[in-house]
Amino acid sequence: MAVADHQITLVFPDRERRTLAVTDDETILAAAYREGMDLPSTCLQGWCLSCAGRVENGGEWDQELSRRYYRQDRDAGFILLCTARAHSDLTICTHRQEAMVEHRLAQGLATPRGKW
Ligand code: FES
Repeated sequence: MAVADHQITLVFPDRERRTLAVTDDETILAAAYREGMDLPSTCLQGWCLSCAGRVENGGEWDQELSRRYYRQDRDAGFILLCTARAHSDLTICTHRQEAMVEHRLAQGLATPRGKW
């Protein structure tokens, strides 16, 4: 049985928008790398936050592969691209590590320490 494709729109800091198709069972970052997009990553385990993005206008995705991801992260729209699998079309602002760290600190949630 074929898995559904979803269209992901990535909005880069310079407001350039690029789109890619992903399946339910691949991570968004893996699909972006396959298409030659330059995005930050370090741990690839959903831990360090270097791949963080922020979803605009809602949508469905899972973070089951992430080592650490909180309900509050999702409520605020943060997504870890290295371990996120889309279940709907999504529009995602990239390069949101700093914003996600600030969000975690404001919520009293754990942030990564040290260098990966
Ligand atoms: S690369 Fe570390 S959380 Fe995604």
